[in-house]
Amino acid sequence: MNVEHATVFVTGANRGIGQALIAELQQRGVRRIYAASRQPQALAGMTSELVVPITLDITNRQQVQAAVARASDTTMLINNAGALAFGSLLDSPLELIVRDMDTNYYGTLHMVRAFAPVIAQNGGGAIVNLLTMASLASAPAIGGYSASKAAAYSLTQAIRANLRGKGIAVHGVYPGAVDTEMIAAMQMPKTSPAQVAQAILEGVANGVEDIYPDGMAQQLVQLWRQDPNQLAAQLAAL
Ligand SMILES: NC(=O)c1ccc[n+]([C@@H]2O[C@H](COP(=O)([O-])OP(=O)(O)OC[C@H]3O[C@@H](n4cnc5c(N)ncnc54)[C@H](OP(=O)(O)O)[C@@H]3O)[C@@H](O)[C@H]2O)c1
Repeated sequence: MNVEHATVFVTGANRGIGQALIAELQQRGVRRIYAASRQPQALAGMTSELVVPITLDITNRQQVQAAVARASDTTMLINNAGALAFGSLLDSPLELIVRDMDTNYYGTLHMVRAFAPVIAQNGGGAIVNLLTMASLASAPAIGGYSASKAAAYSLTQAIRANLRGKGIAVHGVYPGAVDTEMIAAMQMPKTSPAQVAQAILEGVANGVEDIYPDGMAQQLVQLWRQDPNQLAAQLAAL
């Protein structure tokens, strides 16, 4: 897809990878950017002629409908918003496991169902889903998150086939560890969100369906391709 001509809608735009995507999109000179956040006040510094703030909790279906009505010229949707609860599936609070599934799977699904018809009407474009290497094999220390992102991976594969004839490319992004608030508690080498944002947009521009945006992701996907159980063993050690 020609990113420079796109009108792009980004969820979870107020921090982390979402914020870095807004900065990178501004540099590339796209047509318009809808920057969506549950906390619109956090977008105040980003707002410009190019960047339109949108209030959006992706688990709120009324807000999703209002967002698509407001952003009806969108040609690229980046489903970046995500939640992560630490803990085992066996004993972490059920509300947190439900929250991860509501956000990462159902929230992404609400967005896709609302925006796919609009992107098709606008002549086609792209949907980009932020997944993780833990979509491909579970990391038991974040068991609920892994399950929700595995569901989002399955969704990505399904809609890729559903939308192929409608001119909408569907991209999955599988970062390794990225230096954001989400995994601030984890001590390990991390890639900067700016580097990940750049790699995502390069991948979309080059038509790469599955984007591994950093060194850790590229190394882990090799392992997964050789033997999925080896990736599971590696993630179990986290
Ligand atoms: N960081 C990593 O190592 C890593 C690795 C692989 C994949 N990812 C994925 O990359 C994406 C971005 O993560 P990040 O690292 O930038 O995380 P982050 O810094 O924690 O940011 C998460 C963003 O999602 C928003 N969000 C959460 N729940 C939402 C909801 N219900 N509705 C709307 N927005 C919501 C947050 O908004 P609030 O500020 O309102 O909470 C925030 O803007 C996520 O999908 C994550 O799973 C991250």
